[in-house]
Amino acid sequence: MASHPVGKSLFLGSFVHCKSLDKIETFHDTAVFVDEKGVIVAIEPQCDEKKATESLFPKLCWKSGDVTIRSTKPGQFFFPGFIDTHIHASQFPNAGIFGKTTLLEWLNTYTFPMERSLADLSRATRVYTRCIQRTLSHGTTTASYYATVSVPATNLLADLCLSHGQRAFIGRCCMDTLSPEDYRDESPESGVEDTRKTIAHIAEIDPGNQLITPIITPRFAPSCSSELMSGLGALHKETNLPIQTHISENHNEIAMVKELFPEHAHYTAVYDDHGLLTPKTILAHAVHISEEEADLIKKREAKISHCPASNSAITSGAARVRWMLNKGIEVGLGTDMSGGYSPSILEAARQASLVSRHVAMTGDDAAKLSIEEILYLATKGGAKVVGLGDRIGGFETGMEWDAQLIGMGSVDEVGGMKEEEGPVDIFGWESWDNCIEKWVFNGDDRNTRAVWVKGRLVHERNGCK
Ligand code: GUN
Ligand code: FE
Repeated sequence: MASHPVGKSLFLGSFVHCKSLDKIETFHDTAVFVDEKGVIVAIEPQCDEKKATESLFPKLCWKSGDVTIRSTKPGQFFFPGFIDTHIHASQFPNAGIFGKTTLLEWLNTYTFPMERSLADLSRATRVYTRCIQRTLSHGTTTASYYATVSVPATNLLADLCLSHGQRAFIGRCCMDTLSPEDYRDESPESGVEDTRKTIAHIAEIDPGNQLITPIITPRFAPSCSSELMSGLGALHKETNLPIQTHISENHNEIAMVKELFPEHAHYTAVYDDHGLLTPKTILAHAVHISEEEADLIKKREAKISHCPASNSAITSGAARVRWMLNKGIEVGLGTDMSGGYSPSILEAARQASLVSRHVAMTGDDAAKLSIEEILYLATKGGAKVVGLGDRIGGFETGMEWDAQLIGMGSVDEVGGMKEEEGPVDIFGWESWDNCIEKWVFNGDDRNTRAVWVKGRLVHERNGCK
């Protein structure tokens, strides 16, 4: 079903990635060799095309005619693909529409009607195709998606991610209470059974989960009965599949959880007591979690998706990312589109930086996140959150080539981007570090010239070769 054939590839030139939370590594005049499975098989420093083809190809038993070669031009660099650890594909048409609402009103006004409308599969095809194309164009190579309650529409999202070549976790949204009568699971049992149907579909289209993985998705505690959550916890125990949900985003939501689940110590305990707080659980938001809850999340090795654009847009609050990181919790970035207004993880990284500065302005100067940290959260941190830390998020031998080619050019006559002829230092004073900072704070999808997933070219900006 995949659209682009994958062959062997040689990437040459400048590469930037996050070595650790506080270190960006930049290497130039380097060659990265990617085999037909999309795996990086060698990285050679001080290597040009001549050296690569004449001395490295024979060692790898590669023939020149079989290899696609792509070199960075001045002002370009390869960067790992972004990982969106929390995004609602089904809310794509609503991106940017939130008015002055907060979470519960926002769900009823904008979100449930939009999601329900995707039971129409021709509409779902249009919405999901655009969502995938748009996120790929922003460099998102992996996305953890919420779909809708509908099994056929959810399975369609899995099909489309596979055909467009985007790595994805696909969640059929489970909710059996406090949701519109005509947009919910009929019973806890049917909620679990319908989740199994999507799991079976994905096993059929992508056996071995090379690109597509099902993810168990209780929407959030207020819209799930205890029976449904127990059933999904048992399903996780049986399948070891990942889980995603929302937690502690908004004060009214937290009050509701207290009222609905009075016998549990707190919001985090509700998930824990239903077998849903595990090392494979992605918790979106976690804006207002207590010390005790954060300690339990760390103990269970559950992960957090920080969604700063959404938390600001629907006025949820400012999550304390430094505090989470200091506790040793794994954190990644999520757009949470359309709670978040943008499908771009670069925008999420910028917003993570700004929100951390707002936390700092309340008196904790150490809360500020650095450029290294926000880019780490966007790539390696996200990879760990989705359980693929050993496969994606950086450029290392044995990892898969999920990457984007970034170009820092100038605007051409029709508003596109063109490369400069000189070095990246186009104004005569910028270092590579400055260049990366300018990309993060001023860049957008025009700078994302090409995108690969598992070695396959999945997006190329018109006119950018
Ligand atoms: N909580 C429950 N559902 C949702 C959703 O769709 N978006 C966000 N941001 N929070 C939620
Ligand atoms: Fe969300």
